[in-house]
Amino acid sequence: MSAEYQVHGSVAVITLNNPPVNGLGHATRSAAVQGMQQALADDAVQAIVITGAGKAFSGGADIKEFNSPKALAEPSLHTLIRTVEESTKPVVAAIHTVCMGGGLELALGCNYRVAMPGAQIALPEVKLGLLPGAGGTQRLPRVLGLEMALNMIVSGTPVPSEKLAKTAIFDEVFAADANLLEAAVAFANKVAAARPLPKVRDRKVDYPNHEAFLQFSRNTVKAMSGPFPAPLECVECVAASVTMKFEDGLKFERDRFLKLIQTTESKSLRHAFFSERQASKVPDVPADTPTRAIKKAAVIGAGTMGGGIAMNFANAGIPVTILEMKAEALEKGLATIRKNYENTLKKGKLTQEKFEQRVALITGTMNYEEIGDADIVVEAVFEDMGVKETVFRKLDEVMKQGAILASNTSTLDVDKIAAFTKRPQDVIGTHFFSPANVMKLLEIVRGKATGKDVLATTLALSKKLKKTGVVSGVCDGFIGNRMIEQYSRQAGFLLEEGCLPEQVDKAVEKFGFAMGPFRMGDLAGNDIGWYIRKRRYVESPEITYSKTADLLCEMGRYGQKTGGGWYDYKAGDRKAYPNEEVNAMIVKHSEDIGVVRRKISDQEIVERLVFALVNEGALILEEGIAMRASDIDMVYLTGYGFPLHRGGPMFYADTVGLPNVLGSIERMSRGRHGEAWKPAPLLVKLAAEGKGFNG
Ligand code: NAI
Repeated sequence: MSAEYQVHGSVAVITLNNPPVNGLGHATRSAAVQGMQQALADDAVQAIVITGAGKAFSGGADIKEFNSPKALAEPSLHTLIRTVEESTKPVVAAIHTVCMGGGLELALGCNYRVAMPGAQIALPEVKLGLLPGAGGTQRLPRVLGLEMALNMIVSGTPVPSEKLAKTAIFDEVFAADANLLEAAVAFANKVAAARPLPKVRDRKVDYPNHEAFLQFSRNTVKAMSGPFPAPLECVECVAASVTMKFEDGLKFERDRFLKLIQTTESKSLRHAFFSERQASKVPDVPADTPTRAIKKAAVIGAGTMGGGIAMNFANAGIPVTILEMKAEALEKGLATIRKNYENTLKKGKLTQEKFEQRVALITGTMNYEEIGDADIVVEAVFEDMGVKETVFRKLDEVMKQGAILASNTSTLDVDKIAAFTKRPQDVIGTHFFSPANVMKLLEIVRGKATGKDVLATTLALSKKLKKTGVVSGVCDGFIGNRMIEQYSRQAGFLLEEGCLPEQVDKAVEKFGFAMGPFRMGDLAGNDIGWYIRKRRYVESPEITYSKTADLLCEMGRYGQKTGGGWYDYKAGDRKAYPNEEVNAMIVKHSEDIGVVRRKISDQEIVERLVFALVNEGALILEEGIAMRASDIDMVYLTGYGFPLHRGGPMFYADTVGLPNVLGSIERMSRGRHGEAWKPAPLLVKLAAEGKGFNG
């Protein structure tokens, strides 16, 4: 049973019990309906209380059943709510801790609602590209009023119960020290004989001049919701609560819900939601793998990345010491960190107290002896194997036994780095993204020898640092940068064949990327790619690149940091202005290599860049560098600005259809630089089997 039934005097108590948050899965709904029937059949019962066991009243739909037929099987949530609403005995929802989604819709079907303060009340369906489909859009406005209900439904943001105490949603909000069950049973006894039974559906939504308000809301929400249809559909459903009869409003809501659930946007959001949870699971590292305590951290290098990484530890309350080799670099690094925190303080996003706490948690040193007792050390020195070797040999000497030795390298071989120590089991890659204090992604690079407990600890740490940790195997560039390399190569070839940076960036940004490849290059610094290519020209001369990016660097145009790259920039303005000299260099380069420039469509640009990611992603999956396609999607959604409404490159390929993706890739393999388009065997296989990367 996933709901319990008990009788307290003349009050029946149905307790939803489906840990962790009493999701309204099939078994729970069945047990609750059964409880209602039992209570209605028992003459000794005068009133009914519905509450939740443990840490929630109910968090809503059971995510374990999300895409299974069980989600819609009878008794459905509608049936449960109708059973409650049509009860001939009063039903009281006793709410605590979490009351969200379907849980709140159930509570709104009850005759009365009582709550503990501090309960989180929300209809968060919009965050998954949906709308509350079990009457939420019709009932919430009837108790909260049009404006407040609309805000909650369109934003999905939780509101604490005490803030709603004065509205009709609650009949009583108890004192913080009350015993909820006792207080709810007492309340139920009080209303046991009251008739007629109050029903939310019988209330009216009064709002003077509602049409003007609704039109204003439509305009605002439309402007803010980008490619996502759900927020505007939420407004339309809430509008129906004012303009339609209750039953018609319910039907309207149902129709819109069923329409939304089929949209790619909602499917993408749900994919991202599940992928994030999935990413932290490693099949051979079970959830009960022992972890090491991380109470103290150290970072080597106070540069761009080291400073941001140190801030992550301080933000999580973990003291951290930064080690530098030069006093000047250390001072500069610490000053940058302080300035970052000061900016956050000025923006009002940090209290003075927290500001001081965080600054105090970060110290600097030039002496290795001072970091020996840290539980984890993250190396973020220059991207050079020789420098990494010196640092890791030293760390092996000074760090206490059991300390985790992590490297922030973005391309180098973590196994080689581990071999510089006598404890390769303690070595792991933690690849943060720039700016490290902001970006959500943390690629966790599992070396050949990395201990399971070290991996489990790093995954747990990524959660503590509020990052999305994705595990990658060892290869040049790991998951994200190895794929972006193919994307960048295509961007370079497009310049040779007829595009200018602006056209490529605009096409990709219209597709939904936060930033096109050339604006991105200017932000990150074009010299980084130049440095890597120079290494590859020697190590892997068979890989072809366009020379345009090298010519740009030879012009001294590294990007925003040198005042210009592919574009020009004005001080205090991140807007990119095309530069005629750069564009002339691009056109001349085509002439020099004998390529006749042609008009290239936006569709071709997007296909070449995105399918380059997909094809490399398929290789990465096949080689086992990524454990699952959804991990690759998470890397791109959280680290590379891939459009969320398209669900990540691999999910996007699934929605396009793998035979179509393969068809384009085969066509491109017959064109210029066809050598870059050898279809990944996994893509060929899945396309032939009619399957997708994500199943
Ligand atoms: P950076 O050049 O800004 O900083 C490196 C710092 O390390 C400098 O302050 C330098 O003085 C210090 N350093 C060098 N050798 C040292 C030693 N032996 N002992 C102590 N300190 C030493 O470099 P950045 O950009 O912070 O990169 C650091 C690492 O992070 C590299 O491995 C890089 O590939 C990786 N990375 C960089 C990203 C970026 O966007 N910049 C993104 C992700 C990873």
